[in-house]
Amino acid sequence: AHLWRGVVEEYRERLPIGPGDPVITLGEGGTPLVPAPALSARTGAEVYLKVEGVNPTGSFKDRGMTMAMSKVAATDTEMVVCASTGNTSASAAAYAAHAGLGCAVVLPAGKIAAGKLAQAIVHGATLVAVDGNFDDCLRIVRTLAERYPVALVNSVNPFRLQGQKTAAFEVVDALGDAPDIHVLPVGNAGNISAYWMGYREYAADQDGLPARATRTPRMWGVQAEGAAPFVKGAPVEHPETVATAIRIGNPASWALAEAARDESGGWIDAVSDAQILDAQALLAREVGVFVEPASAASVAGLLQAAERGGVPAGARIVCTVTGNGLKDTATALGQVEIEPQVVAPDATDAARALGL
Ligand code: F0G
Repeated sequence: AHLWRGVVEEYRERLPIGPGDPVITLGEGGTPLVPAPALSARTGAEVYLKVEGVNPTGSFKDRGMTMAMSKVAATDTEMVVCASTGNTSASAAAYAAHAGLGCAVVLPAGKIAAGKLAQAIVHGATLVAVDGNFDDCLRIVRTLAERYPVALVNSVNPFRLQGQKTAAFEVVDALGDAPDIHVLPVGNAGNISAYWMGYREYAADQDGLPARATRTPRMWGVQAEGAAPFVKGAPVEHPETVATAIRIGNPASWALAEAARDESGGWIDAVSDAQILDAQALLAREVGVFVEPASAASVAGLLQAAERGGVPAGARIVCTVTGNGLKDTATALGQVEIEPQVVAPDATDAARALGL
């Protein structure tokens, strides 16, 4: 039996980590690639979900955080800092706790899902809420990292993308080659950039390592309509969407994401909040995977492309669903009536209530 050791050990030869370097890991990565027949039927393609919500803190951020935190642990810096729409702060707080480092998180006030906020708090991070959006928070933490002895662990830290590229490796390792198309939500644009890096590296011989894929996929990025700077072609000053994780108007990895889109022959499009919530419900009810709204954006974008005739028949497609639905139950339950009927502790009463 093979015990999964986390992405740094599993892909060490393709990551910038030295033999004697500390590795801060919670066993991230090795996430399921789940066939989604309900989506295949709707799109005429062969669709899989890369379920990143099963990572230790419930999102893909853990892949980048293990690398970034390992690098900080090798220095004498004692505190990390990040801006976040919630998941980065949850991940940073957990990995900092494991490493014995301090963690400060700067968040847009009132716009963080309850589960994510709870994670930052229970892992012992120090929180600051900014009367502004994520873009303001990122500007602030960049300045803090310049002026004070704190290490920045947002995806502008290049080690974050190095760690996150391992998700593309896992997809190829599972399928035997790259898919035709890879779809994912785009917020600060680090993840689409990281996947593209991973796919390109796996398709080329590298430092004595043989290629593991014969090709690279088209990268399809999906934004929320109210926070779609790539679709607009310019930053959005007041981003707004139910998918708070991607409520971002001025993505840090702008150039890298455009390169991923253009070099791969892909696109970045937008979907409405209603489409996002519909896709979230469909994933929950017909695939059995509960994702947070931002994650459902990738699936909403795929379904929209299919409706417009833009999905090649039989194409092998992977959608990354980036975060666990349990992080934001309020938004999900806003869509569904929950009034379970209370009955006596008796099987006959329960059966009657269930209509059996
Ligand atoms: N999906 C989820 C669940 C996210 O939390 C994020 C980003 C994205 C998608 C977009 O990924 O930024 O690499 O394009 N969350 C960041 C955070 C901004 O602070 O947790 P991206």
